[in-house]
Amino acid sequence: MSDPLTLAELEEIESRHVLQNYARLPVAVASGADVWLHTVDGRRVLDLLCGLGVTSLGHAHPAVTMAIQEQAGTLLHTSNLVHLEAPTRLAQRLSLSSLGGGVLFQNSGAEANEAAIKLARRHKRGGEIVSLFKGFHGRTYGALSATPQEAKQEPFAPLVGGFRAVPPTPDAVRDAVGEGTAAVLLETVQGESGVLPIPDDVLLAAREACDEHGALLIVDEVQSGMGRTGTMWSYQGTGVTPDAITVAKALANGLPIGALVTAPHLYDVLQPGDHGSTFAGNPLVCAAALSVLDVMEAPGFLEGVTAAGARFRAGLEALEDVADVRGRGLMLAVELTPEAVERHGSAGELAGRLVTEHDVWVNGPTPSALRLLPPLTIGDAQVDEGVARIAAGLAAR
Ligand SMILES: Cc1ncc(COP(=O)(O)O)c(C=O)c1O
Repeated sequence: MSDPLTLAELEEIESRHVLQNYARLPVAVASGADVWLHTVDGRRVLDLLCGLGVTSLGHAHPAVTMAIQEQAGTLLHTSNLVHLEAPTRLAQRLSLSSLGGGVLFQNSGAEANEAAIKLARRHKRGGEIVSLFKGFHGRTYGALSATPQEAKQEPFAPLVGGFRAVPPTPDAVRDAVGEGTAAVLLETVQGESGVLPIPDDVLLAAREACDEHGALLIVDEVQSGMGRTGTMWSYQGTGVTPDAITVAKALANGLPIGALVTAPHLYDVLQPGDHGSTFAGNPLVCAAALSVLDVMEAPGFLEGVTAAGARFRAGLEALEDVADVRGRGLMLAVELTPEAVERHGSAGELAGRLVTEHDVWVNGPTPSALRLLPPLTIGDAQVDEGVARIAAGLAAR
């Protein structure tokens, strides 16, 4: 094999041939193993972000690698015009682990939300979709229309009609939901906006208002699902059960997949021809996802997530520059003190230096908060190492 391209070579090619849609860190990754990423220049970076909540079993997990290799040598693709074992088994496992109804596969989180929005409109024709301020549901037009963030929506107006956004309070949700509402779409913990847990009374108000007006409560589990918060699905840690959930990110530990999972009463809403996607339910990604579920559903796995989350929280809370640690399980944000933000410029700038100078990868979703989405398999020693590296980065200025 030829020598890997250097960071400078990659940057040079990208400057001419890759659309400048992403602001990349000056880091070039060659490979990954468990909680570590290996850069082309020989550094070992502790990955506490998991590619934004995707590689939750760590890099190159042997069970996932084996499942992919086996399926790759058997069958990659046929379309949804025939019966296939891997997606069928996966649908059954996802359904039984959550709402017990039907599953429709997609290829990403945004697409899973598109499917959920179509389900809601098919259920109540012309109905409005209500979402919460600071929510994030994806970048495609339907999902973006349910993502009430000025910077993300404004350049792409006009958006899709029939969407409304409200603050995350019980009264605001109750006031917004009526006979004309098709669905409330929300996250239990708003990840992209800085890991903001939605209070249980808001979730309960949404559930009651949806029940009263025949609307669907759809929980976006794209980031918070798959064990991330210490339960398989984040709604299971609240007192509220939705009518549907959307899933993606960690489902296949890095292969692109999304899914809409419904309660049994919605089994017949979508009919043949209503929706479709060429790659959705592809056997390769579904085989990978089945291997992920095997690992996550093993006894003790979720208890391990909760324990590691508590250890991280305790370690981070003890740091001088930390005002608060919020989140659930291993979906955490570290709110920095105003002095620390001032010293470091912003959480984003600090996160950049953490990866380039201290070999630990987190990000800064708000100017004052670092976000951690570590591997759910992380051990005590690696948690402590992560805290120590973040502490070193904080102390460096
Ligand atoms: C809660 C939530 N929903 C949807 C999405 C969109 O997922 P994708 O990037 O796979 O389209 C994200 C991505 O960060 C997310 O966090």
